[in-house]
Amino acid sequence: MSSILKNTKVTLAKRPDGMIAPDNFKVVTEELSDLKEGEVLIQIEVISLDPAIRGWMNAGTTYIKGIEIGAVMRTFSAGKIVASKNADFPEGTYVSGLLGAQEYCVSDGKGLTVIDISKGRASLHLGVLGMPGMTAYFGLLRRGEPKAGNVVFISGAAGVVGSTVGQIAKIKGCTVIGSAGSDAKCNYLKEECGFDFAINYKTESIDEKLKEYAPNGVDVFYDNVGGPTLDDGLLNLAQGARVVICGFISQYNKKEIYGPKNYMKIVSARGVMNGIIVFDYVAEWPQAVEEMSEWLSSGQMKAKEHTVKGLEKFPDTLMMLYTGENFGKLILEI
Ligand SMILES: NC(=O)c1ccc[n+]([C@@H]2O[C@H](COP(=O)([O-])OP(=O)(O)OC[C@H]3O[C@@H](n4cnc5c(N)ncnc54)[C@H](OP(=O)(O)O)[C@@H]3O)[C@@H](O)[C@H]2O)c1
Repeated sequence: MSSILKNTKVTLAKRPDGMIAPDNFKVVTEELSDLKEGEVLIQIEVISLDPAIRGWMNAGTTYIKGIEIGAVMRTFSAGKIVASKNADFPEGTYVSGLLGAQEYCVSDGKGLTVIDISKGRASLHLGVLGMPGMTAYFGLLRRGEPKAGNVVFISGAAGVVGSTVGQIAKIKGCTVIGSAGSDAKCNYLKEECGFDFAINYKTESIDEKLKEYAPNGVDVFYDNVGGPTLDDGLLNLAQGARVVICGFISQYNKKEIYGPKNYMKIVSARGVMNGIIVFDYVAEWPQAVEEMSEWLSSGQMKAKEHTVKGLEKFPDTLMMLYTGENFGKLILEI
């Protein structure tokens, strides 16, 4: 590797106050120095834009530490090792991990996952075969515990997590209802992903539609949205229902969080409400990737991607997640 190799990266310039804005970010170019013993140089090809990034831009620590001001934006990314001084990761190996929003990443190998691109292109390992797919798999199967014949309701259903949850629930023999923000997304859920029903939450009442589609209630409510959507789902729980709190995208950019009003329904439904953090299942990801790859290659599972090209488009592209402009797993390609 030459010492004049340059790396362009997107850094956190200042913390957002409410909705993220372009001036929260800065694009910086720096020179990379030669690799030390044990290090590898990864040329990043694809960057994953995930809703959680908004939370990571805040100060402090939740399940993970906030990004420092001036540091590269933390993202899952994937690419190819183009130089190596680490025998465990030879040149030419494809890897993914928290490699950041940048062209190149120098890594000591810790936290790198070797990806098998014969099982799917690199971007799929950031989506269905990566962190969001694992969230769907373990969130539904371990926290939602669906049984054949159950009714499963998923909010934020047209995204990578939601559409994967619904497709796994169909494979497990459930009736699946999803909510999403446009007719095109609802049609995709029914026609491509095999959902039984889809609710356009912008033009229809989730509560009314759930009463129509699930007159005996919802056995598994997989919530990606929070706020009033969580309330509508809670009102429609079946006896013994499991509520999986996966995310609350309607609240990420809010200064004041809307808390659930209908939580008393958990009592009368003898239900449980579970949180899921995908990183708790890291040791089991390889087996889940194996199973999901088989579902993908057999055509039992579909994976839709929304790709934007150009690192400099990072701020505008990230914003798409919170306005619903993305349709499929949002990927930034370098
Ligand atoms: N707990 C974990 O370990 C974990 C891990 C990964 C992801 N997650 C969570 O899973 C959820 C889905 O993530 P994803 O990667 O699949 O994202 P995604 O669904 O592909 O993208 C976000 C979608 O959220 C919807 N949305 C945005 N603002 C909304 C609002 N105010 N009300 C209702 N819907 C809104 C938009 O779709 P519409 O057009 O339908 O509005 C948008 O396309 C997120 O909440 C994320 O934080 C949790």
